[in-house]
Amino acid sequence: MLQAQIQLPASVRFAALPPLALYAHLPWCVRKCPYCDFNSHEKRAALPEREYVDALVADLEGMLASVWGRRVVSVFIGGGTPSLFSPESIDALLAAVRARVPLEPGAEVTMEANPGTAEAGRFRGYREAGVNRLSLGIQSFDDAKLAALGRIHSADEARRAIEMAQAVFDNINLDLMYGLPGQTVEQAVSDMAEAARWGTAHVSAYQLTLEPNTVFYSRPPALPSHDAAADMQLAAEETLVAAGFEHYETSAFARPRMRCRHNRNYWEFGDYLGIGAGAHGKLSFADHVTRHERAKQPREYMAQAGSLREKVVRAKELPFEFMLNALRLVQGVPSNLFEERTGLPAAAVARRLSTAREKGLLEDDPLRIRPTRQGRLFLNELLQLFLD
Ligand SMILES: C[S@@+](CC[C@H](N)C(=O)[O-])C[C@H]1O[C@@H](n2cnc3c(N)ncnc32)[C@H](O)[C@@H]1O
Ligand code: SF4
Repeated sequence: MLQAQIQLPASVRFAALPPLALYAHLPWCVRKCPYCDFNSHEKRAALPEREYVDALVADLEGMLASVWGRRVVSVFIGGGTPSLFSPESIDALLAAVRARVPLEPGAEVTMEANPGTAEAGRFRGYREAGVNRLSLGIQSFDDAKLAALGRIHSADEARRAIEMAQAVFDNINLDLMYGLPGQTVEQAVSDMAEAARWGTAHVSAYQLTLEPNTVFYSRPPALPSHDAAADMQLAAEETLVAAGFEHYETSAFARPRMRCRHNRNYWEFGDYLGIGAGAHGKLSFADHVTRHERAKQPREYMAQAGSLREKVVRAKELPFEFMLNALRLVQGVPSNLFEERTGLPAAAVARRLSTAREKGLLEDDPLRIRPTRQGRLFLNELLQLFLD
């Protein structure tokens, strides 16, 4: 009842705009993995790399007026499988980006790569093009699990890809999944322990989820029970923390000072331009926030390069959107970040924050909005308090 009485202002007001990041989506893969609901399309012929990079650049140009004078703090080239693109195409893309938007000195530039497409020469080419962080989709070091996931690479190919990446990059992320078909807690821990032994800067450990519109959703494999998956999550956290990683977000683990800046900007409700097929973005202006989205099909996207669907986010949607991101962070965020990043007064969520604290879902610290362990375990219940 109390929550219904809260009067939110109809519009927002920013003292300063949030940091701005850039995401570029490259939507092709060698083969579609049966669990994947990303906007990724099986490569059936030679990729139209040049045409697609031209479309990305046209797309970026179409956004320039909206971000005039703002610096970009990080770039993320994601997919799909961006490592299907040649180093020359990645170089052309990053050169075009640098020529159009000012990149912060030392900006983090991440690119995703699939071990099945890894080659030492390519990795060097990406580094020379300006990529300074590589994210490898390892998923598991167990051949049977990789086969069950329909991956195009073996465990040894994944290991070779890490070795090649380490010869070129000093900032590497390994993506792993747990809760895999037929997986035991010991097997999940063994994957995490091997990931830790490689000594990379960052590990992302995701629980496999069954997403609508995937092969696994329509024909589900035998997955570990809910309790076993929860045990795996705990054991994965313990293994990575014991190996020197900081657990800073639901699925993210980093060596000290090696957190992913690009993803942190999402979780701290920063702004981002999204270019590429199906990419979406969020931009703040002095008195409103917008979201933009592109056509998902690569052909349609290239044909309409630069056209997008845009909508103004209603002020009353912002508290939930902010919390949806910020509450993924294990340490939460400083309380004043809510006003800074939503342009709304703190009063807009004061009562809901008190309710969450009374329920034991948020720490009792007025200076931080920080989930308790209970709050992280029951994140949906916590988030519901902020729904309009
Ligand atoms: C876009 S993919 C990354 C790069 C590359 N496409 C690859 O798979 O090697 C991002 C990551 O999301 C994770 N992921 C994808 N689908 C998932 C699902 N259904 N459940 C949990 N994690 C998933 C995987 O760890 C994957 O590496
Ligand atoms: S390679 Fe990555 S993006 Fe492509 S289908 Fe598999 S999980 Fe999805």
